Amino acid sequence: MRYTNSKRGKMGVCRVLVLLLALICEIYTQEPYTICASLKDKADCDQVERKEFVRCKFNLHQVDCLLNIEQDKIDFGRVTPEAALIGAKFLKNVVVLGEFRNNAVKNDSAELSVVVLVRKTHTGGLRNLRGKKYCHPGFKFNQIATDFILKEFENTVLKENNAEGCQNNVITETLFEKEIKAVSDFFGPSCRPGPWIGFEKYDNDFYKNYSKLCELCNNNDKCRPGNEPFTDSINCLVNGGDVAVTTLDTVYQYFNNTDNKNRIDEFGYLCKSGDINGLEDPCMWGQQPWNLIIANRKKESSIKKDIQSWFASNIINKDSNIVPAPSDMNIDYLQPILFPEEKDYNQIQIVEGTPSLLEYLEKYRVIPPTNEKCDEKIRWCTVSNAEQEKCEWLAQASANLAIQPTIKCIQSHNTFACLEDIKTDKVDVVSSDAHFGYIARKKDLAPLAFPDTAGKDRIKPIIVIRSTENDITSLKNLEGKKACVPEYGGIEWLSFINTARAQDVLSHSSCDYGQLISNFVTDSCMPGAHDKEHEISGSINQDKLCKLCQPDPQESKTGVNCNSNSGNRFYGNSGALKCLKEVGDYAVVTQEAYPDFNSNDFKVLCKNGSVVSAAGFNVDENCALTKIIDSEVLAKKVSPKLANIAIVLLNLEAHFGSDRHKSFEVFNAFNNTLDLLFKDSTQGLSSIQSDSEHIKNFVQLFTDVEKCAATIDGKSNSAATLRITILPFAICLLFIFY
Ligand SMILES: *[C@@H]1O[C@H](CO)[C@@H](O)[C@H](O)[C@H]1NC(C)=O
Ligand SMILES: *[C@@H]1O[C@H](CO)[C@@H](O)[C@H](O)[C@H]1NC(C)=O
Ligand SMILES: *[C@@H]1O[C@H](CO)[C@@H](O)[C@H](O)[C@H]1NC(C)=O
Ligand SMILES: *[C@@H]1O[C@H](CO)[C@@H](O)[C@H](O)[C@H]1NC(C)=O
Ligand SMILES: *[C@@H]1O[C@H](CO)[C@@H](O)[C@H](O)[C@H]1NC(C)=O
Repeated sequence: MRYTNSKRGKMGVCRVLVLLLALICEIYTQEPYTICASLKDKADCDQVERKEFVRCKFNLHQVDCLLNIEQDKIDFGRVTPEAALIGAKFLKNVVVLGEFRNNAVKNDSAELSVVVLVRKTHTGGLRNLRGKKYCHPGFKFNQIATDFILKEFENTVLKENNAEGCQNNVITETLFEKEIKAVSDFFGPSCRPGPWIGFEKYDNDFYKNYSKLCELCNNNDKCRPGNEPFTDSINCLVNGGDVAVTTLDTVYQYFNNTDNKNRIDEFGYLCKSGDINGLEDPCMWGQQPWNLIIANRKKESSIKKDIQSWFASNIINKDSNIVPAPSDMNIDYLQPILFPEEKDYNQIQIVEGTPSLLEYLEKYRVIPPTNEKCDEKIRWCTVSNAEQEKCEWLAQASANLAIQPTIKCIQSHNTFACLEDIKTDKVDVVSSDAHFGYIARKKDLAPLAFPDTAGKDRIKPIIVIRSTENDITSLKNLEGKKACVPEYGGIEWLSFINTARAQDVLSHSSCDYGQLISNFVTDSCMPGAHDKEHEISGSINQDKLCKLCQPDPQESKTGVNCNSNSGNRFYGNSGALKCLKEVGDYAVVTQEAYPDFNSNDFKVLCKNGSVVSAAGFNVDENCALTKIIDSEVLAKKVSPKLANIAIVLLNLEAHFGSDRHKSFEVFNAFNNTLDLLFKDSTQGLSSIQSDSEHIKNFVQLFTDVEKCAATIDGKSNSAATLRITILPFAICLLFIFY
């Protein structure tokens, strides 16, 4: 009895276990999908998540959505065609499930298809177009008709005819102007309206200099595109032009119109192959795909079925086997998260098969190559694999918009090495920590723009002393004392010397800041003071400036260590505080919280010489030595590439600046990583002539150095004026930033 009983008991346990397992399995199969959402979807996400079938994962921009799906961190989402085109070359695991189409009945397999019309009498394909009258809609309408597809025809023709104009001499020395001149030189009188560069002031100058390109335009404001640019382009052709760039949809509308039906036989499509097809047989140039539903390859088939069930009434090519989802699933809240913001794009065309992004997109158009045109490129210096990746995505994103010159990414060891690489002409540009400003200028680099930040992210260097210190009651008292500075030539170092010079605490006898500080202090720690790449002058006392530094026993075997890296215990802001606590008399550091230190051990000596009575770093702004931005975009001070770099920077700001509607945001996180290429604190680029106080302060630090050099050495033509006279266009361009 007991035996059977116990046996039964065991079986009972088994049943419960099986049931439990089944339950676990069921819960497991119902593990919610994750979808790409943006922060504005928060409220809808909360509603959707009540039903536990889809969970939101927030991305700052669509490129991160693509990267998260690629890495199986998110299951599915929607991307714009522009984002898809950026990622296509790099991604393997992202597949296309569907397209969002609008309900307007358009007889076109793409969102937009560029076509080229010619007179049927034309012979010689893409050759024989020299001197022909060229009709074009103009540029910069929206995200759909991008410059790349609108320029594809002329770029192909110029290349085919060996007329790219790489040798063109143009006043601005930009590839951008060479392109315009090449089009103008090749074609006859034309109508190819603007905006060409996208900034009215400069566009107007270019319109005057290349007026031949707008000679055939009909409107009063010759180079401005009309209200119906694609129709205008056909009108230009019909009224005497030879070749016109327009869209398939516009051609259909135009020639289906009874007024124009009788002219159908006069025109044909000029194909990429050079063939001419009749109007009944269109051939496409670049096509812009639709907004896409994408998913990770692993879950593709179940998500595809579920989407058809959730959005049954929105599916164009319905599968009759799929049952619509029950009405209580909160699908209404999922719709705004997944669907495009434009309300009329609410029809879903399910895509056949499981094409990768690249396979799918290649049916529409070529992925723009990132190789250089006319051998011109902007070489961007990167300092890590992650940064190199972001840079390569940026290069693709720029190429997709036909931004010229193309960006080429070159990896170096660290920002410091990048500065040296710019000096030696191995790279062209880098966005560098403000910290390196002094050293960069010693290497003959100069800023092209300043990444601007919110107020809280600005740098405020302060002078710190021990709270028990009673002998230091003015800046003058610091003479002959032991200084702890994060880095030789760093921004704290420079701010200190600048303030001390302005107050006559440091002598004016020399402009060699290294020598001045070297004479002012006794044994100190200024990491990097022994290192040629820190642009040290011959007249500093290296031993003195390195004397207090200590090697980190875990990282360094040597007895002395003056390095500007973690092998030196007193390197950096925290290192300088440590140095002050243990061996120094004062430190100059950036104002921060410093949680690793007891702030009661320190007090601050203000710029005006008074000591703040309360201990700690929390002092008011006027007490700090200065307040400045945290980074700058640097290039060689004198280089024929400056105007080209300026154009690229303007475009980066315009197309990839911070803005919720951009597919790729260059100032934001990439692949969930912060501070790549630009600091994430960056809100936008500002002009080097900006009136903002923190920018003027920063510029002032270096003008003081230059001014000093000019007065002492008798060089009246200071480098700053030299720059303005040599490079008017680059400088003017950079005035545009605000
Ligand atoms: C375009 O319209 C014609 C009829 O006017 C139709 O036969 C054809 O399939 C349509 N093409 C597309 C791509 O929708
Ligand atoms: C236009 O041409 C004039 C005369 O050659 C020149 O001075 C001016 O700088 C040019 N403007 C532009 C924007 O190229
Ligand atoms: C008129 O439109 C239809 C589709 O809407 C298209 O198939 C046809 O080719 C068009 N006719 C011309 C001459 O473009
Ligand atoms: C993104 O980051 C992951 C690791 O976090 C890495 O494996 C992957 O290669 C990165 N992808 C890109 C494109 O940078
Ligand atoms: C010096 O500046 C600090 C900070 O702004 C201020 O509190 C203090 O009153 C000033 N001292 C003198 C003597 O002006």
